[in-house]
Amino acid sequence: MKVGILTGGGDCPGLNPAIQGAVLKGIDFGFEFVGILEGWKGLLEAKTVPLALSDVEEIINKGGTILGTSRTNPFKVEGGPEKCMENFKKLGLDALIAMGGEDTLGVANRFYNEYKMNVVGVPKTMDNDLNATDYTFGFDSSVTVAVDAAERLKDTGKSHRRIMVLEVMGRHAGWVALFTAIASGADWVMLPEEDTNIDKMCEHLKKVYERKKTALVIVSEGAKFEGVEEEVGEKDAFGHTILQKRGLAQRVADVIKEKTKIEVRSAVIGHIQRGGAPTLFDRILGFRCGVKAAELVKNGEFGKMAAMRGKDIIAVPLSDAVSNLKVVDKYWIDLVKTIFK
Ligand code: F6P
Repeated sequence: MKVGILTGGGDCPGLNPAIQGAVLKGIDFGFEFVGILEGWKGLLEAKTVPLALSDVEEIINKGGTILGTSRTNPFKVEGGPEKCMENFKKLGLDALIAMGGEDTLGVANRFYNEYKMNVVGVPKTMDNDLNATDYTFGFDSSVTVAVDAAERLKDTGKSHRRIMVLEVMGRHAGWVALFTAIASGADWVMLPEEDTNIDKMCEHLKKVYERKKTALVIVSEGAKFEGVEEEVGEKDAFGHTILQKRGLAQRVADVIKEKTKIEVRSAVIGHIQRGGAPTLFDRILGFRCGVKAAELVKNGEFGKMAAMRGKDIIAVPLSDAVSNLKVVDKYWIDLVKTIFK
């Protein structure tokens, strides 16, 4: 069998371990692999690279994706899906492994349903907001970077007697902000799932400041509060606003300064949290998902995705993964609030 692999959407640590897992397992099944470059764009343009043992055997510790990625949506391109199907045939592919988040797998699901493409999915996203899987790889690595940044801000904040604001990624779901807040012992978290009451937050920060002479606020880039518009500015091919351009951290810092009269500084770690070597957790999860994807292809279980459930990697319908986003729920919101004293 000739199997294509593509990685689409925002990159994250764990993609290379997943590519490695798929290829190593596929070699056992006698598969030949071809790498499709830059996500769905590569299938549209038939841009490929060979993917042999020597290309993948030393990538488990590498950040990013050796295949490159893009946010190209072939369903937004005139004749795009047909061109992809034509290239799928031209390249002699029997199956495709698509590694991505909600957008990339949403496209995979449409190709499966509308064009009968032999496609299986591997879930990745640093946002951890994909349904039908307990965790996505990329999340653990990103939060590890964000916690390190938060702890550094705490040091300098304490020295200068300042309130510090850290903005992390998380457009629709605040998992990165929430886990960062708990793991770094922050004093407030602003999530997309819950409108922030600025007055209440500032009263709390004043109280914390009296005790600690510093305070730390973690802000998810998609956080909402009165006066902050949600959906303005430049959008990507999937219709998502590029939120970093809102400058949210500084706006939060300004409002805290105004209401508390305490000195405030802000920082945005942005894409730093998407790079670097995958953590142990992400290496193992990525690798296992890649292996499972090769097994799904071998068994002809198309339209499915590898998913983590408890300690197992199982197959779930792609449609389950992309139907709804997994957002922060009440359990986690209550949990994080227990640290705000
Ligand atoms: O991949 C998801 C994500 O990390 C979001 O949290 C963030 O809003 C977005 O990517 C940033 O995307 P880009 O790399 O295209 O700026």
